[in-house]
Amino acid sequence: MRKETDMKEEEHELGQQSPLFRQIHTSQKWWQNIIDAITDYLFVIDQNYKILRTNKAFANLFDREPADIIMKPYYELFELSEPHEWCLLPDAKEGFSSRSVERTLNNTDYLISCYPINYDDHEAAVYIMRDITETRRLKDQVYHLDKLSSLGTLTSGVAHEINNPLTGIIGYTEMLLMKNQNDKNEKYLRNVYDSAIRCKRIVENMLTFSRQTPAQKSVVKINDIIDKTIELHEYWLKSTNIELIRNYGDVPSLSVDHQQIQQVILNLIINAEHAISEAGGKGRIEFKSYFDAESKTTFIEVADNGRGIPPDVLPKIFDPFFTTKPVNKGTGLGLSIAHGIIAEQGGTIEVKSTSGEGTLFTIKLPQLN
Ligand SMILES: Nc1ncnc2c1ncn2[C@@H]1O[C@H](COP(=O)(O)OP(=O)(O)O)[C@@H](O)[C@H]1O
Ligand SMILES: [Mg+2]
Repeated sequence: MRKETDMKEEEHELGQQSPLFRQIHTSQKWWQNIIDAITDYLFVIDQNYKILRTNKAFANLFDREPADIIMKPYYELFELSEPHEWCLLPDAKEGFSSRSVERTLNNTDYLISCYPINYDDHEAAVYIMRDITETRRLKDQVYHLDKLSSLGTLTSGVAHEINNPLTGIIGYTEMLLMKNQNDKNEKYLRNVYDSAIRCKRIVENMLTFSRQTPAQKSVVKINDIIDKTIELHEYWLKSTNIELIRNYGDVPSLSVDHQQIQQVILNLIINAEHAISEAGGKGRIEFKSYFDAESKTTFIEVADNGRGIPPDVLPKIFDPFFTTKPVNKGTGLGLSIAHGIIAEQGGTIEVKSTSGEGTLFTIKLPQLN
């Protein structure tokens, strides 16, 4: 901020000048105000890369005021000893036409556009940098989502293909088991049979999960849904050495879309697993269910001892597309979909978390009748 006395002095000096000078001064201020109102980063450079004009946004990028950086080579602000490869200057004879490039500078993605101008009989260039980090992230996410949805289709196709030969394996093994009772091969056949049954369960779960049908309610046991979902992911959880604790209470059957509830629980498990691997410690996920007779509400809790959620992130986690994960790992859609599904069942999903200690998600499902 300029001191009041400075401004008074300036006004006094202006008062002494000719009306034409005053007019030019006012008009210049007007233009400066306009370019300062632009939130993109704008600077004009001469043939020596020195800044002739700039706006507040660009100067603030370096914690400076526009007046402080006039006539400085622009690249020094970026702590460089020479201009960037994209920073071109118009040739006095040939000039050049405007152009745009995308570049990452100091971890921010910019669209950098350049327009040649003639300034006071000299060639100069106007540069406008627009922060496109968020736009790029959203674009990457859309590509990723697209890939995910084709993966969903692929999964259900593969699951169907595997299902048929698997039925054959199970049928023939059963036949052989009947014919070879008390045979020395019975033990091996039993192994084949058990493994095939396990494969069938996995395939069935995959099919249930990837089928995209509208909400189809049926009366189901909540504890069974939790179990089935864990089963779907158990192999992976075992390989990452995460301990699973099941603490199921006596809960009544509920009329829900079991596929959708499964989707909610699976997302909570995957989130917990990510949080645990980020914390790097010995992981534990606890599943709990209980019923409150007074409010006729079924509670499902999923608790982990992962890295927890910082207080400033906590209010955003149910927002669509909010994620703290890299693009190939998170879509930011899991919890917002979960929230939608639970709300559709007339319930709520809440979170409690302590940074560095862990997170607890609580789903409350009312007994609707
Ligand atoms: N169990 C958890 N522990 C720590 N952070 C979590 C947990 N669950 C969710 N989060 C945070 O909430 C964000 C949003 O989750 P979600 O909607 O499932 O999207 P995604 O998992 O794709 O990032 C995550 O990026 C993460 O920062
Ligand atoms: Mg998720």
